[in-house]
Amino acid sequence: MKIIATISDLKQHLKKEKVNGSTIGFVPTMGFLHEGHVSLMEASKKENDVSVISIFVNPLQFGPNEDFESYPRDLERDARIAENAGVDFLFAPLPEEMYPARPSISIHVKDRVDVLCGSKREGHFDGVAAVLTKLFNIVQPDRVYFGLKDAQQVAVVDGLINDFNIPVELRAMPTIREEDGLAKSSRNVRLSPDEREMAPVIYQSLKWAEEAAKNGVGDEAALISGIKERIENETSGEIDYIEIYSYPSLKKMDVLEGKFIIAAAVKFSDARLIDNIIISAG
Ligand code: PAJ
Repeated sequence: MKIIATISDLKQHLKKEKVNGSTIGFVPTMGFLHEGHVSLMEASKKENDVSVISIFVNPLQFGPNEDFESYPRDLERDARIAENAGVDFLFAPLPEEMYPARPSISIHVKDRVDVLCGSKREGHFDGVAAVLTKLFNIVQPDRVYFGLKDAQQVAVVDGLINDFNIPVELRAMPTIREEDGLAKSSRNVRLSPDEREMAPVIYQSLKWAEEAAKNGVGDEAALISGIKERIENETSGEIDYIEIYSYPSLKKMDVLEGKFIIAAAVKFSDARLIDNIIISAG
């Protein structure tokens, strides 16, 4: 595996691969890799001749009071994990390589961002769309791999690819979890031991709602209050949102039918966790 820090170096290497007719799979990440990221790298390796991962904590997608500075970073460890997963190129640019000057054009995401994390983290998905547009142009992959753990991000990236005719195939992969059900996340290391023990309740409450919905409970308010009650009673976390929308359009539903998402965000003392379940009814 080659570790590359500059855009020109990466482009040069990938050009050679493309001339040989190799297909390129790409996994954009912010590093501090875990099995969720590994599942994306493995899918890329399986489906493409060459796999590229980027590790870049993108300042544009963090709000002023968010955790950009304290976001966990460990490039050496990440490099070992990526190499073991069969990655060919690890692209780890410095912020000044990606943003040598203040961007002169910004991207503003209009649809699918008035709910969930989009409504709580103003400008977050604009920053995600901007960095991904740059990364897609730099790597020019055949396929890109994203996790449904961040289901709203998948929906926004789908819009980005379609709106701007980006010639890439979006592959959305399932959420990888700890044995107790907690969704793997780089931020899990910031849970206290007590919080770590309570955190699986988020997924358990979503599973409860999935069961209830499958057993015919069509009342959105009842599902949401059931989830809230469990999280409030069984964790010290503060609920940021529990919401249900159609997926991937993320519209409010009068009747729970077709494909919909039940999503949760819960704030613990030093980590905000998100999780979701996507249900196909009927
Ligand atoms: P990051 O949080 O590092 O996540 C990188 C990719 O890993 C995303 O597609 C995310 O959905 C996926 N992922 C995270 N946890 C997962 C899990 N438990 N199971 C499956 N996939 C999981 O998302 C970002 O970085 C950034 O916003 C980025 C797209 C890189 C743009 O900066």
